[in-house]
Amino acid sequence: MDDRPRYDRATAALDPPFAMLDLVALRANAADLVRRAAGKPIRVATKSIRSRPVLDRILAMDGFRGLMAFTLPEALWLVAEGFTDVLVAYPTADRQAITALAGDPRAAREITLTVDSTEHLDHLDRVLAQSRPRQELRICLDIDAGYVALGGKFRAGALRSPVREPEQAAEIAAEIAKRPGFRLVGLLAYEAQIAGVGDTPPGNALVSRAIRIMQARSARDLILRRGRVVNAVSGLCDLEFVNGGGTGSVERTVREKAVTEVAAGSGFFHPRLFDFYSGFTGRPAALFALPVVRRPAPGTVTVLGGGYVASGPADPMRLPQPYLPAGLRYAPDEGAGEVQTPLLGEAAYDLRVGDRVWFRHAKAGELCERFATLHLVEGDTLVESVPTYRGEGKTFL
Ligand SMILES: Cc1ncc(COP(=O)(O)O)c(C=O)c1O
Repeated sequence: MDDRPRYDRATAALDPPFAMLDLVALRANAADLVRRAAGKPIRVATKSIRSRPVLDRILAMDGFRGLMAFTLPEALWLVAEGFTDVLVAYPTADRQAITALAGDPRAAREITLTVDSTEHLDHLDRVLAQSRPRQELRICLDIDAGYVALGGKFRAGALRSPVREPEQAAEIAAEIAKRPGFRLVGLLAYEAQIAGVGDTPPGNALVSRAIRIMQARSARDLILRRGRVVNAVSGLCDLEFVNGGGTGSVERTVREKAVTEVAAGSGFFHPRLFDFYSGFTGRPAALFALPVVRRPAPGTVTVLGGGYVASGPADPMRLPQPYLPAGLRYAPDEGAGEVQTPLLGEAAYDLRVGDRVWFRHAKAGELCERFATLHLVEGDTLVESVPTYRGEGKTFL
């Protein structure tokens, strides 16, 4: 069945703007991630989902274990709501949340904090100086998985941890082992330059080739370095997990013996930026509908809203994609607007006031910061409407 009439039919009773999740596409994407993970568990990156009921549905499928949260207040809330095994993959300085964690035995059992320096440990100790009793905190050490070449002149990957080499990791692991109140249980090494960079960007074959070469070299470097880091740290603690990767690198990351689990988030919704990978194809699962509200000129319609620009380096790829009907594009002078968005193209001739245009966000979970509800569609039926984090009054970031 063609997707546009199906989506229009399923949501006919709703007035746009609204957001929709195609459950068949979501399940197909989840199954493909599991296939690519080849038996290793996938930790679900909550930043790319941002809806509790959707996280529940994903964790109910085979192949997924644990959550990768983006803030400690979020993790505390998720654990209070019954979720378990939550890795906060980004360091926290939140005094109130740290105090709450150390005072709650169940939260301290289920939540793991990420650090990359003794400065983080010092901060935690300072915040908890007066806290009694103080639960032992589970700690994950973040390792830089970026790619460095030309003697440091070239670097690709996210600027995260200053810890890169096995000796540095061992030094911090020894410090954590020595300090009361902390237990090192995991390692995290996220290769953003592979997992989050599509190797078939539109337009430029040379850039594609350069990306592929960089990614292949980076993967070779990581097999050795991640393995050495794990070896260096293993003697100093009982590691429960070594986490790596993301949607764009699943099959590559799980091949490394040292990696025990892979993270993935974006692959569930399959947003626009994930169309440009040669290793896999997903199905757009999360969409939003905007209403046509006027027709300023022949071949032009204007929809309400639309300026939901994705985070990252600002460029046109961060704009939502006008998706259905196919063949619509932005007016170059206006782009995606704060209140209204003109759209040009053949398809605009057939659109009338009150019709919908379906869009895809450039990224995954950020869509949920714009909408209180995700309408879940199965085939051509709306089966349930569930809250996003925002819909539950939670604005973590
Ligand atoms: C630590 C970490 N792991 C994995 C990911 C990958 O997530 P996704 O699958 O959404 O690309 C991210 C994304 O930024 C991350 O920060």
